[in-house]
Amino acid sequence: MSVLVTNIGELFTGDEVRAGAAVVTEGDRIAWVGDAAAAPDADERIDAGGRVVLPGFVDSHTHLMFAGDRSAEFAARMAGEPYTGGGIRTTVAATRAASNAELRASAGRLAREALRQGTTTIETKSGYGLSVDEEQRCLRLAQEITAETTFLGAHVVPAEWAHDPDGYVDLVRGDMLAAAAPHARWIDVFCDRGAFDADQARAILLAGRAAGLGLRLHANQLQHGPAVRLAVELGAASADHCTHLDDADVDALAGSDTVATLLPGAEFSTRSPYPDARRMLDAGVTVALATDCNPGSSYTSSMPFCIALAVREMGMTPAEAVRAATLGGARALRRTDVGVVAPGARADLVVLDAPSHLHLAYRPGVPLIHRVLHNGVLQ
Ligand code: NIG
Ligand code: FE
Repeated sequence: MSVLVTNIGELFTGDEVRAGAAVVTEGDRIAWVGDAAAAPDADERIDAGGRVVLPGFVDSHTHLMFAGDRSAEFAARMAGEPYTGGGIRTTVAATRAASNAELRASAGRLAREALRQGTTTIETKSGYGLSVDEEQRCLRLAQEITAETTFLGAHVVPAEWAHDPDGYVDLVRGDMLAAAAPHARWIDVFCDRGAFDADQARAILLAGRAAGLGLRLHANQLQHGPAVRLAVELGAASADHCTHLDDADVDALAGSDTVATLLPGAEFSTRSPYPDARRMLDAGVTVALATDCNPGSSYTSSMPFCIALAVREMGMTPAEAVRAATLGGARALRRTDVGVVAPGARADLVVLDAPSHLHLAYRPGVPLIHRVLHNGVLQ
């Protein structure tokens, strides 16, 4: 079945903003994009009523496979406690205690919440199981939600391995990876203070690559360190967070295919300084925006919220922020079929109840998502 989206006030293709355009979808793909006057006929019509149409958001970094609640930890932070990542173990205990049905319900609820806010492609990670069976279980359940699954056995060293962190690294790159790899597309390591160092991260990522997984890295979130340069050295698809960078890190990213995925929800919820997106963009770094949705450092599923933060706090123009939330996320997942409105791409469209994409930052916290078309189906 074909659908003609017409009367579009502003079409944000991912690369450019067009006026007077129309879009035709055929099944789950975009078939045609061009001037409305030249639009071909279609089985059905959606009248956008002069609103903005943009690609569905690509949220390339979330942690949906968890149980429990850390709102008290959030409240303590707002009262001045620092974020250390130590609360990850609280979520590990709650996740291990949860049934499959509970995990499925909670992750499904978050994925639906994200879809209502315009997210049509979502990556999600394990990382709150931290044993062979629990990591595999979380990834199996994650596969029910998305094809973009990431094995994060190296999130932190769990309490039962605290006496032998290198033994845990061997487990992650051995039996845990073997159990996880059939259910994952990517492997990720939290390479930062209180988690894993660069040598441990390199060993785990190389094992992941040998098992056929693509590489990504939690890098330079809590302090400056070697993780961003490690991501570039290994040709990772993405270095995520990028909060504490020096000039060498920015130059390394700019000269690479590694996307800097910025997660301003984490800085918002941990009261930390925001990454300097302006500096990265000016140096030629490819930037993505994602939510980092997780119960500890960023419990938001809202890409519009992250766009507003990126504009207000990180020096991005609204157009750069929308591009980073669509095309940038697609690049971070090495996908060419999402994050754009172009013939051949997936028919994932958002209609915004606004006359211009500027409103995503101009009207923060306002539910501007009017309609979502996902795989050609109106949600
Ligand atoms: O990306 N930094 C590491 N992992 C998550 C937070 C996990 C948590 O606090 O539960 C993040 O921010
Ligand atoms: Fe994260």
